[in-house]
Amino acid sequence: MDSAAGTGRRRQDEVYRAGVYGRRPRVPTAARALQRRAKAHLTNRAYAYVAGGAGGEATQRANRAAFDRWAVVPRVLRDASVRDTSVELFGRRLPAPLLLAPVGALELVHPEADLAVARAAAGLGVPMVFSNQASVSMERCAAEMGDAPRWFQLYWSTSDELVASLVARAEACGCDALVVTLDTTMLGWRPRDLDLGHLPFALGKGIAQYTSDPVFRRLVEQRASAPAARDRQPRPTAAAVRALVRMARAWPGPLLDNLRSPLPRAAVETFLAIYSRPSITWADLAWLRERTRLPILLKGVLHPDDARRALDEGVDGVVVSTHGGRQVDRSIAALDALPDVVAAVGDRAPVLLDSGVRSGADVLTAVALGARAVLLGRPFAWGLGLAGEAGVRQVVADVLAEFDLSLGLTGHASVGQLGPEALRRVP
Ligand code: GLV
Repeated sequence: MDSAAGTGRRRQDEVYRAGVYGRRPRVPTAARALQRRAKAHLTNRAYAYVAGGAGGEATQRANRAAFDRWAVVPRVLRDASVRDTSVELFGRRLPAPLLLAPVGALELVHPEADLAVARAAAGLGVPMVFSNQASVSMERCAAEMGDAPRWFQLYWSTSDELVASLVARAEACGCDALVVTLDTTMLGWRPRDLDLGHLPFALGKGIAQYTSDPVFRRLVEQRASAPAARDRQPRPTAAAVRALVRMARAWPGPLLDNLRSPLPRAAVETFLAIYSRPSITWADLAWLRERTRLPILLKGVLHPDDARRALDEGVDGVVVSTHGGRQVDRSIAALDALPDVVAAVGDRAPVLLDSGVRSGADVLTAVALGARAVLLGRPFAWGLGLAGEAGVRQVVADVLAEFDLSLGLTGHASVGQLGPEALRRVP
């Protein structure tokens, strides 16, 4: 896919040539500096929401430490002058084993939010997984993406009708796969947000997939006109209903400006009441399977028995993930869980890795351990916060560049050549 120079050398060239004229990259090219800069730039609430994890954040630390326990052993004299970083996933050739993870409430970090991410991802051909908690509807993002790949992350609502509607919309706007997130049936205990008393969704942020949904709107109207609500609030007028619809379509800026008016408040309350169903079990998967022709991946799988069961239930792939350490404190690290899941799945389906990925070297490590592809999360959110679309584009391009260089410098000409023999466990 790449020309002889490869993505890595082209990117270096671009940066070093610009440097001759005194220009520097828009955002830092390494993960730690990127996060530091974002922290200085963002509001406390925005930074806390994106950076935060569950409890004492041991899972986040474990996710990083797990990468540090693997070392790459480069091989020499193998002609890596021409490299192919591409992989195939569900019938599509992707430029690299990399996708952008679903990240909710991005309007906290930048007013263009998901739309900027969609443009950047599409420009690079890297699939964007639309968040179920997006700040911009999937249709508006898809409209900016041409034929570029996109997937949809699904949270299983208590309303099956809403789930069916979201799935149908994902199909209609060209998503290639559904990622059902199973580790967030309830929100984890997140002290950074708790101490600020801040939940973006309660402020109407990150609920654009809902406010743009016809089933959800109907549920909101029912709630706003239910007897209990009617006692406290005036019955919404047709004009107010239209206002909600307009609000949901409007961007940039907050979707629900006036939280005291009954409909936006009802939208928030409806969301909080129905966004997830902790009672979901394996039996529910058949219902979803019947409703979509798209590949279904389960995200949040950490145990090999769950991975095996997923495939037995007709699922098309699994994503090993700790939700960026946001859900369960002291969880096994995603990368530590990966080898057993890969062994359990064998060649029956792709296994993807999410959580802790910060760089091209991390992508290489995860792929060598058997991940077909990895999901990148927080780093692109930092790029978005610092420089909008250009920031996302740079962060992702930098990860792609480092992956390409790491591949070649370790003696590999293609992703398919990577395997566990490229790594050693270090004490
Ligand atoms: C929601 O998905 C979150 O992790 O905040």
